Amino acid sequence: MAVWIDQLEETMRIGRILGELAQPGDVFALTGDLGAGKTTLAQAIAQGVQVTEPVSSPTFALIREYDGRLPVYHMDVYRLGNRAIEEDLGFEDYFYGDGLCIVEWAELVLPLLPADVLFIRLSAGAGSGASCGRELLAYGTGTRSERLVKEWETRCLI
Ligand SMILES: Nc1ncnc2c1ncn2[C@@H]1O[C@H](COP(=O)(O)OP(=O)(O)OP(=O)(O)O)[C@@H](O)[C@H]1O
Ligand SMILES: [Mg+2]
Repeated sequence: MAVWIDQLEETMRIGRILGELAQPGDVFALTGDLGAGKTTLAQAIAQGVQVTEPVSSPTFALIREYDGRLPVYHMDVYRLGNRAIEEDLGFEDYFYGDGLCIVEWAELVLPLLPADVLFIRLSAGAGSGASCGRELLAYGTGTRSERLVKEWETRCLI
């Protein structure tokens, strides 16, 4: 799925739809440059999972857990760099657990990710500020995530 997003509100709408479709064991791997909108999308997904607590960036906490319709594990592995895979930090417990994992900078933990993952790449367009556009590319790497991305795309077009 490839979509061009003009407005922040559209990121929120699309993200909420994905959150509504999330199931236990799903892993959403978010990639994109600094400020591309990964945390913003994660906040929208969490809303869709009916997380009522405010969702903040886990850059310093590494991982934050929320309770919604299912547990949400929001991770940001940016600061770990190579340590993310060189040290056994226990990520697999989350990736193979019973909640939804949303991983910012997922490319840094690629070897640790399960086989069936929904990758979402965000890129900022020209300009800046809250109305600056974003490109969103999503693809699944397994049966569940491929089905999910199709369902997500269909729901987004309605
Ligand atoms: N269409 C859009 N979708 C998402 N965010 C947008 C959009 N347009 C502008 N923004 C703004 O871009 C910023 C994105 O910041 P955000 O923290 O979500 O990025 P990030 O990818 O998580 O960054 P980091 O790599 O530092 O974790 C926010 O200030 C948000 O308001
Ligand atoms: Mg972030």
